[in-house]
Amino acid sequence: MATERTFSILKPDATRRNLTGAINAVIEKAGLRIVGQRRIRMSREQAEQFYGVHRERPFFGELVEFMTSGPVVVQVLEGEGAVARYREVMGATNPAQAEEGTIRKLFARSVGENTVHGSDSAENAQMEIAQFFTDDQIVG
Ligand code: RTP
Ligand code: MG
Repeated sequence: MATERTFSILKPDATRRNLTGAINAVIEKAGLRIVGQRRIRMSREQAEQFYGVHRERPFFGELVEFMTSGPVVVQVLEGEGAVARYREVMGATNPAQAEEGTIRKLFARSVGENTVHGSDSAENAQMEIAQFFTDDQIVG
């Protein structure tokens, strides 16, 4: 498998509970390198664009509300098969179904406030990285 990049967000429930370092430790222990990282306040427009595929879903309003409710940490992660690897490390969307040792099993409290985002394909990773990072903000 080739070295690739994925896009990650530490969501507002993570920053609120001061879990940035603890989550980054799990990420790095899994062999992923944090090659870009910035703490931001996501605007409503950014959140709506980012989760645009879920616009028609019943939880869309709540999701946008949550993602703009506090600071988030946006990240670019690099490693062998980074997209799939990070999905593995995050665990299932619903923390009740997440495997032992995954970020969501360790830290997430509910499906709505599930602590982290990770891209679901290499193509989406590229688009998501481009929404939040310029090339010079990523140092591999
Ligand atoms: P993400 O995009 O945040 O990495 O999460 P995911 O791929 O595991 O899950 P996805 O299906 O893309 O859903 C995006 C986010 O929407 C929220 N959600 N809430 N209340 C609900 O039933 C519900 N379902 C999904 C979650 O925060 C999920 O991460
Ligand atoms: Mg998703």
